[in-house]
Amino acid sequence: MDLAALQDRTGWTVHHLAVTESTNDVAARLVREGAAARTLVLADRQTIGRGREGRPFASPPGGLYVSLLLDAPPADLPGGVVALVAVAAAEAAEAETGREARIKWPNDIWIDGKKVGGILLELVDAQRPVVAGVGLNVGAIPQELEPDVAPTVSALGVVAGHPVERQAVLERMLASVDAWSARRAEPGGAEALEVAWRGRLALIGEEIVCRFAGRPLRGVLEDASLTGGLLIRDADSGPVWREAGHVQDLRAADRTIS
Ligand code: BTN
Repeated sequence: MDLAALQDRTGWTVHHLAVTESTNDVAARLVREGAAARTLVLADRQTIGRGREGRPFASPPGGLYVSLLLDAPPADLPGGVVALVAVAAAEAAEAETGREARIKWPNDIWIDGKKVGGILLELVDAQRPVVAGVGLNVGAIPQELEPDVAPTVSALGVVAGHPVERQAVLERMLASVDAWSARRAEPGGAEALEVAWRGRLALIGEEIVCRFAGRPLRGVLEDASLTGGLLIRDADSGPVWREAGHVQDLRAADRTIS
């Protein structure tokens, strides 16, 4: 990567590491030391990349592993910020691959029904910028995936059918993060972001399974909202809005892996 050009073209302050355990940890340290929003930590590989719910995120060379420091109004945490970053990541992935990128609720980026990346939001201190970690498989599908997970994962270069540059993806994503951050602050901006997010959601209208408040739930995912949760129609109760914080492990009914 040309870090000087990256910094120059985006206006973000860039911290680059060849290798680290997790860029989110480095970013959290920078936040505690007083770093401002629009700072990012980028690594060429991670040794202990983290995903949601304690899952590992395989982070070999060739992928994009970045943590963004973002200012976020408390009302936007966590859903609004995740939505903003997910829309930005999806827009960048789509622009660089030419393939439609979708958001698999809540935090995954999907192309052709396969996971190409994910987002891990971590709050260090309510008064300081939030850390939004984004991992995208760019050059290749990581080799070290569990055999049951591997068929559900892809990479930008694979779905595009041509090489995709990490720097181009990152620059587009940062431009999109900045554009949506500005838009969100304008009248009607939060609604526009929700429309963009909802328009990219995967599995809408499809049969899904999940756990709701710890119990298995099967139904059709009718809709989703950043404030209202998920509208799931199940055979017993019809369509019911389910609070997002109580929904886990959402996946297509015909897939075993989320
Ligand atoms: C998920 O798939 O559940 C979220 C994956 C988030 C991975 C990114 S890579 C950069 C940042 N550092 C981490 O350890 N995790 C996030």
